[in-house]
Amino acid sequence: MRKLFRRTTPALVVATLLIVSSCAGDVDSEVGAEQATATTSRAQRTTEPAAPTTVAPQTTTGMSTFAGPASEDPGDIGGDARGLTGVRTLGSIGDPTFPGLGNIGYDVISYDISLDLTGETLAAETVVTLTARTDLERIHLDLVSMQVDEVRIDDEPALFMREGRELIIRPPTPLLDTESVEVLVAYRGTPEPIDAGDGSPFNLGFQTKPWGTFVASEPTGAATWFPANDHPQDKALFTIRVTVPAGVAVVGPGQLTESRDNDDGSVTSVWVAREPMSTYLASVATGDFDVSTDTLESGLVVRNAVHTSALASTGDALDTTAAMIAAFEERFGPYPFESYGVLVVPEALGFALENQTLSLFGTDVLGTEFGQAILAHELAHQWFGNNVSPAAWDDIWLNEGFATWAEWWWTARTGGPSMAEFAAQIPMEPLADLPADALFDINVYWRGGLALEALRREVGDGTFAQILQEWSSRYGGAIASTENLLDLVTEMAGSTASDNLSQWVFSPTMPALPDDG
Ligand code: TRP
Ligand code: ZN
Repeated sequence: MRKLFRRTTPALVVATLLIVSSCAGDVDSEVGAEQATATTSRAQRTTEPAAPTTVAPQTTTGMSTFAGPASEDPGDIGGDARGLTGVRTLGSIGDPTFPGLGNIGYDVISYDISLDLTGETLAAETVVTLTARTDLERIHLDLVSMQVDEVRIDDEPALFMREGRELIIRPPTPLLDTESVEVLVAYRGTPEPIDAGDGSPFNLGFQTKPWGTFVASEPTGAATWFPANDHPQDKALFTIRVTVPAGVAVVGPGQLTESRDNDDGSVTSVWVAREPMSTYLASVATGDFDVSTDTLESGLVVRNAVHTSALASTGDALDTTAAMIAAFEERFGPYPFESYGVLVVPEALGFALENQTLSLFGTDVLGTEFGQAILAHELAHQWFGNNVSPAAWDDIWLNEGFATWAEWWWTARTGGPSMAEFAAQIPMEPLADLPADALFDINVYWRGGLALEALRREVGDGTFAQILQEWSSRYGGAIASTENLLDLVTEMAGSTASDNLSQWVFSPTMPALPDDG
């Protein structure tokens, strides 16, 4: 059972306990024992140093090199440092959980990613359009493995070197503060998914399978397939162009804007996401997918892509999407993106993931009795996590707690058991200062969900819905921190409500859930 908590998908853990809760009388003792184990291991973990996995050196590949990076602290460059209490250098945005992740000195405006999957290995070219926020002699991007063949800045060749997962570029002339440039990176190889040591149930990043490819990056895998400022704080627009042999389907975020026959047996498809997206939520998939597109009355485009071999196991599970969206819109405010859909890959993934506008599922969830709860969970992430993204990775409960609350709400609304009452019996760890390998532990989901349920019971349905909607409209398209939420609750429901919520987040002992009145 302990393994279940550490390595299995949170969604499946929730589902497993949901099944347990709905059928067994001895649940309390069993879960209590489990919790004791989790608490001990967590206490041990906190004495260990943070996993340095994101800065592990990698083999340096061929390159045009120059004499060393300018690694000095660029000083206070302004911008948004909410939640970023870690060390800030050009090659590290200062995330407290993942030292070395992301970069500073610039903002990415857009990524234009071209992937050619017609050969033995991936051949790729990504244009990163960025704006300098200070005078810059070096530009750091995150990129894992891959062979970099060429870097150009505004079409002029630039020198570059690799250091671990940093791609360090020397512009031919230094960038000036506020200047925008196009950084083109040409690279190839077979993307290597990484074990980020972050408690996520999977090797992260671009996955190459016998049947095709897909992407599962949260939290640190995006740089396995494109050079990125890989942190949720730097959202950008995405264009993803994928060339595949004719007959292979390509599915990406946003909407398909073009499909071009290259007259050489290959086809290039272009997917454009018109709303800002954090790097960890960007995805694309190729393979024998059955793509169906529908436009809801509201104008929202729903396109699902189910691998043909997964059609039977998927059944009619996706038919509830429109009703779920309508219910969530009533509670959370308008669905935030131009499209939605589910990608079902022919793998027993053991998890689901909320890739922006295209939630990822395997064959092992949708046909089961907890399929609808997990569909609701991933859909809710489009509001909470994707539209409003975490300021730092240890704000992850703002993703998982909100999605869990929404999942519970949908389940109860459709006649299922009340998971909040069940979860409230289990004492759980606080939600702050998480080490890397505890980001996706069950307490983040359940105590996070309970924190919101407690708030709802305290302030009432009306005020609670207003808080959620204000959260989306104030921070949508951007990021927010735990502090931002506490401040919003103070503003809309008073300081007692905010103090109580703060106990749910920070207190070593878990507060009691108020009665549902
Ligand atoms: N965010 C996912 C969920 O709660 C869980 C998750 C985190 C995940 N990292 C992942 C799933 C990596 C797959 C791969 O639904
Ligand atoms: Zn989730």
